[in-house]
Amino acid sequence: MSSPNHIRTYFTYVVLLCLALGFLSCISAHNTTSHRRLAPRDSFTTFSNPDNNEGEDHKNLEAPNGARIKDFPIGDGGEQIPVFWSDPLTDQKAEATHAFIVIHGRLRDGANYWTIMNDALQSAVDEEYPGADRKSFIVAPQFFSEKYNKGQYSSNELAFADVNAWQAGDTATHPSGTNITSMDALDALIIAFSNKTEYPSLTNITLVGHGGGGQLTARYAAVGADAPEGVHLRYIVGDPSTNAYFTQDRPMRDDSGDPSCEFWDTWRYGYKNFNGTRTGGNKSPFQYFSQYISRDIVLLVALNDTSPDNGDQYCPAQMQGGSARRDRNLAWWTYINTLARTKEPVQMLQQTFNNSPAFVGLPNWSNVTKKTEDGEGVIVGPRLIVVEDASHDAAEVLGGMEGRAALFSSKSEDMPVGWRPSGWNETESDCSMCDESKENLGTETGGDDSGGDGSGNGDGNGELGRSASITMSLVGVVLLAEVMLHSFV
Ligand SMILES: *[C@@H]1O[C@H](CO)[C@@H](O)[C@H](O)[C@H]1NC(C)=O
Ligand SMILES: *[C@@H]1O[C@H](CO)[C@@H](O)[C@H](O)[C@H]1NC(C)=O
Ligand SMILES: *[C@@H]1O[C@H](CO)[C@@H](O)[C@H](O)[C@H]1NC(C)=O
Ligand SMILES: *[C@@H]1O[C@H](CO)[C@@H](O)[C@H](O)[C@H]1NC(C)=O
Ligand SMILES: *[C@@H]1O[C@H](CO)[C@@H](O)[C@H](O)[C@H]1NC(C)=O
Ligand SMILES: *[C@@H]1O[C@H](CO)[C@@H](O)[C@H](O)[C@H]1NC(C)=O
Ligand SMILES: *[C@@H]1O[C@H](CO)[C@@H](O)[C@H](O)[C@H]1NC(C)=O
Ligand SMILES: *[C@@H]1O[C@H](CO)[C@@H](O)[C@H](O)[C@H]1NC(C)=O
Ligand SMILES: *[C@@H]1O[C@H](CO)[C@@H](O)[C@H](O)[C@H]1NC(C)=O
Repeated sequence: MSSPNHIRTYFTYVVLLCLALGFLSCISAHNTTSHRRLAPRDSFTTFSNPDNNEGEDHKNLEAPNGARIKDFPIGDGGEQIPVFWSDPLTDQKAEATHAFIVIHGRLRDGANYWTIMNDALQSAVDEEYPGADRKSFIVAPQFFSEKYNKGQYSSNELAFADVNAWQAGDTATHPSGTNITSMDALDALIIAFSNKTEYPSLTNITLVGHGGGGQLTARYAAVGADAPEGVHLRYIVGDPSTNAYFTQDRPMRDDSGDPSCEFWDTWRYGYKNFNGTRTGGNKSPFQYFSQYISRDIVLLVALNDTSPDNGDQYCPAQMQGGSARRDRNLAWWTYINTLARTKEPVQMLQQTFNNSPAFVGLPNWSNVTKKTEDGEGVIVGPRLIVVEDASHDAAEVLGGMEGRAALFSSKSEDMPVGWRPSGWNETESDCSMCDESKENLGTETGGDDSGGDGSGNGDGNGELGRSASITMSLVGVVLLAEVMLHSFV
């Protein structure tokens, strides 16, 4: 053991290890941003400007007029989330019929969103709008940023990584070691309102999100657990920046070579790396589509939500339909209707807004939809309302006639469709984006990294290039160490 040769070999390994470690940390120090912050984040959180302090606020939370702040318990570890909470206007909890769970936007301003929802309910009740019931709860959870809301949350309250990881359903980073996600928070609120001992008359729960809250709601509408027995769950998704695609198809390519393209199909944008939810488990993207397409989802899209200057503008978001959120959300409508093989003439949207190139060769996933009585058509849960005269503004989108219908109307007949291209009602889908040879590819997953049909892979080379260069560097380090060793010992 103690022969000079052994010492020498031992020494060789120590030196090699030290050099390798030193060199690796040197590489990562050289580009801290890309290495330290990569996993388990998506490209939005990875590439967001670390100085983006949107929604920064350190003052005590204040409840708006009419609400109180309730610390709502989640999980078994004592974690809590503050919720702006109002009991029904009548204060007769046992008679309450409806609970609205409202998710704030990227500014994490739960109080504002509580007020927007409360105004929408009050005015609808005052004007005796059918379905608007004063016996309703309005609750708005607050998803803090760990960095930019320090001082606002207590030691057992949840806070999330920057920037806005909660929108993708991420795990909270505070209290340290917690494994609660923003999706778990939604589950917990929904389960609470489904408790018939507490709320015997409550039949409807509506999840409402706009912008960043629209993103969380959109993803939850696909991956969240089914509504508990005895309650009906509606999801109102307003103007999200992006959706999580079930397949590797995208309406646009991005050949910019931007480093964020690497994440074009990872979770937040697609299902790669998605690990499921606590109550819903981990299913295939096909199964998530099957949930999504059967649920009561209202997509509210502002016709004027076209600014290229805000929202997620990274490569994976661009691939979902360009820089305008409106175009991305209409592309999403095109996508889900084509997968489901409905008769919606979605090609007209693509023609109107020139989202070129459109989808190519979408598979036929219609077997998971309900059929019409004659067996000729399919029935899907999601509905699209395009709100004219509105931009990216929660109050405009939720406070107008269209928002009112989405919030309170029970019947399809009472639900307007809002804007459509002219000739819409007389046209049917031409299935120009369909590929019947891919019929019912139930096994297709968004999770494999094969690059799919290449319809949208922005930059497949980034990762390869990086690991190759690290390998080369290591080979160099080994050679260098050998040389040094021979001259020393
Ligand atoms: C670090 O990586 C990011 C993302 O890959 C890139 O945008 C940036 O230019 C890199 N910085 C340096 C100094 O290499
Ligand atoms: C899923 O789990 C894997 C392995 O723990 C991790 O690398 C990945 O980042 C997780 N995905 C998300 C979206 O958190
Ligand atoms: C979360 O952590 C708790 C302990 O605090 C543990 O019992 C539970 O299994 C964990 N859940 C998940 C989904 O990791
Ligand atoms: C329902 O609420 C009652 C009364 O607060 C409580 O005792 C019970 O544990 C709750 N049930 C569930 C399943 O949480
Ligand atoms: C899609 O698949 C279903 C069977 O699941 C089939 O009935 C239908 O004809 C196919 N094509 C279209 C365009 O619906
Ligand atoms: C819609 O956008 C156009 C051009 O950006 C602007 O001139 C107009 O005022 C906007 N209308 C509304 C209602 O936001
Ligand atoms: C309320 O729930 C019923 C099912 O019980 C459903 O038909 C109706 O559309 C829901 N109304 C709203 C406004 O969500
Ligand atoms: C299409 O029909 C609906 C009723 O189903 C109507 O509200 C809408 O105005 C019509 N749209 C067009 C563009 O004709
Ligand atoms: C739809 O087709 C897929 C693939 O063939 C199959 O796995 C799945 O069970 C089918 N679903 C239904 C509801 O028929």
